[in-house]
Amino acid sequence: MKRAKRIQGLSRSGTARVMERAAELRRAGIDLIDLTAGDPDFPTPEHIKDAAQRAIAENFTHYTAAAGIPELREAVAANYRREYGTDVEADEVLITCGAKQALFSLALALLEEGDEVILPAPFWPTYPALAELTGAQVRVLATHAEERFRVHPPQVERLLSPRTKVIVLNFPCNPTGALIDPDHLETIIHTALARDIYVISDESYEKIVFDRRPISAALFREENVIVVGSFSKNYAMTGWRVGYVIGNRRLIRDLVAIQSHLVTHPCSISQQAAVAAITGEQREVNRMVDEYRRRRDLLVEGLNRIVGVRCHLPEGAFYAFADFSPFLAGDSVSLAERLLDAGVAVVPGAVFGSDGFLRISFCHRQEKVEQGITRIAQTLSSWESDCDR
Ligand SMILES: Cc1ncc(COP(=O)(O)O)c(C=O)c1O
Repeated sequence: MKRAKRIQGLSRSGTARVMERAAELRRAGIDLIDLTAGDPDFPTPEHIKDAAQRAIAENFTHYTAAAGIPELREAVAANYRREYGTDVEADEVLITCGAKQALFSLALALLEEGDEVILPAPFWPTYPALAELTGAQVRVLATHAEERFRVHPPQVERLLSPRTKVIVLNFPCNPTGALIDPDHLETIIHTALARDIYVISDESYEKIVFDRRPISAALFREENVIVVGSFSKNYAMTGWRVGYVIGNRRLIRDLVAIQSHLVTHPCSISQQAAVAAITGEQREVNRMVDEYRRRRDLLVEGLNRIVGVRCHLPEGAFYAFADFSPFLAGDSVSLAERLLDAGVAVVPGAVFGSDGFLRISFCHRQEKVEQGITRIAQTLSSWESDCDR
């Protein structure tokens, strides 16, 4: 029997594959330090869980509006007005089942066969998968560790073609933690606007920024700017599946039409929890970010102490993307597999379009991060002494 062409080239998420292999080993009783997942080890804050319990007790357990409950659309808009001084309104916001579904609906709404998408690498692997599902082609824009993985406007200009439909930006970036310079962001948006190209700015890690204030493409209120956000990482709510899109009203209407047929709407209870998250006390978020900063410093310092490994300081998110190229006896997948055999699970850079690197997640307890560094250091030095012999 014949499958659709669009599914034939689609493989499962590379991150999910490594995480599952690590889970298999753990189930088999193997002592493993697993630093693959991008899932905060903090519980969802109590006041958010209380709001969900109230929603259930009050029977808020039925269909809601397809675009999301008005309180949540307004709360997201108000957050952007407060944090960035923009004039976003509730009808420019769509609530989705996580940022992933937001991006899927955007791909359906904007892309078709023959379109081109400019995507900075290293990239989160879902972007190329979504582009390819629609028949669009990805044009990769390489960014470099020596430049803190920054995207520069001339690089974008060089990749523009009459077929370019979308430029994807992601900051803080998964996997590099890189941010973008606000003036570069503005230039890219205006260059794109002049050519009727959309800029999708995935800001799923918006609040997890360490050494400066978060920025958002929502600052630039142009027709072509689309912001994607999520409650998953910022509020330790990965399982609740709530995200959003901010965009022009016509786009939001199109996305609501897709959403109404795709998922109907995001879970009613999770939406009430998200209202509590975004309108409530932000102390817990600040506490989590402080803890991530401590773990980041520890991890990056530990990695840079290993001779041959180089790791820049991520400015946001909770991943270190470190250069292990001197240890590559093949590609980063085989390096990650060898480390897995030595009891530490990390994600190969190849998954993110950047071989030679490994992504090491620091949204895990400090002891686990410390044990991970020790294991990596011991394993690499044992390989070196094997080579010396
Ligand atoms: C850059 C980026 N965007 C979006 C997502 C998806 O987030 P959500 O849980 O809201 O679907 C992730 C999850 O890892 C991510 O890293």
